[in-house]
Amino acid sequence: MAAALYDPANGYYARPAGQVGRGGDFFTSVSTGPLFGRLLARHIAAWHREAGSPDRWRILECGANDGSLAADILAALGDLRGLEYAIVEPLPLLAAAQRERLPAARIVRSPEELAGDAQPSFVLGNEVIDALPFHVIESDGRGWRLQGVTLSADDRFIWTDLGEAPPELVAGLPPRPAGYRSEVRDNLLPFLTPLAAAMTGGRMLWLDYGFERDDYYHESRTTGTLRTFSRHRAAEDPLESPGEIDITAHVDFTALGEALVQSGGTVLRFENQGRFLTEAAKPWLLELEGRTDEATRKDLRSFQTLTHPGHLGAKFHVMEAEFPANTKRR
Ligand SMILES: C[S@@+](CC[C@H](N)C(=O)[O-])C[C@H]1O[C@@H](n2cnc3c(N)ncnc32)[C@H](O)[C@@H]1O
Repeated sequence: MAAALYDPANGYYARPAGQVGRGGDFFTSVSTGPLFGRLLARHIAAWHREAGSPDRWRILECGANDGSLAADILAALGDLRGLEYAIVEPLPLLAAAQRERLPAARIVRSPEELAGDAQPSFVLGNEVIDALPFHVIESDGRGWRLQGVTLSADDRFIWTDLGEAPPELVAGLPPRPAGYRSEVRDNLLPFLTPLAAAMTGGRMLWLDYGFERDDYYHESRTTGTLRTFSRHRAAEDPLESPGEIDITAHVDFTALGEALVQSGGTVLRFENQGRFLTEAAKPWLLELEGRTDEATRKDLRSFQTLTHPGHLGAKFHVMEAEFPANTKRR
């Protein structure tokens, strides 16, 4: 999965953006328009005030893709003194697209580059955790076995049983009947730790689709949550055209919460996107009273899409954690 998505030459995300949106392979909340970024900007500004309006501070976005969310957040925040907008972007072509769109932003290949210049920070990512590589595991009725990919004699990618899954990878997962397949990530803590090290306190906010562990490994979910996306069509075979299609699996938010705590944070909220954005939108909704212009109607349509349980409001969840100024790993 890491090679199929992130190989610098042939990975799906190694192209100069274009994966997200109408002309791409899938929509995200960012594609619904600037309202998503405007509401996140309100939430971030509220945190900045609560944190005592530090003179120097940073928004650090992961998975910024073509820079649309960053542009929307920055436009909504206006002229906030002392703010640096930084983006972690390991892929050169996406980084180039972001530099062109956001000349004032600081684009780094990894959060380690910021460790020497840590700031009070608001770290965020929309649909990033689901794009972190995961392991595919299958139960044999007694335990979990790791599934890998090899080349067949006639040069096709095929699934291969790699033997028993390492105990630490599957610790805490419930026993399941033979043939039950699912996914598990062991890279959450390594992903979060350098981000936490780049902050002198602040928040992390992750928005994504997923469930708590009980639901993720529910006995009825026998084939897991692995999906591929190509031209707005979902499928389930990641070996079909690696490098040309998106590969994703839902987020185990219990595992994400544990990793946030281990990296030094305290989980403040875990709720669906509908609730979260509705709370952030309250003052804006009051300001709209009596307005019927086309721009307002357009924003309200976006708001519906982002928050209605039948659209993105219930499928997406938000997990936010607070990090103290002297973050220590637990
Ligand atoms: C599904 S896209 C979401 C793009 C955008 N945030 C949106 O909501 O439209 C996932 C993005 O996460 C990026 N990504 C994956 N792993 C990353 C990592 N370790 N650091 C930074 N970005 C990462 C991918 O390159 C890709 O651009």
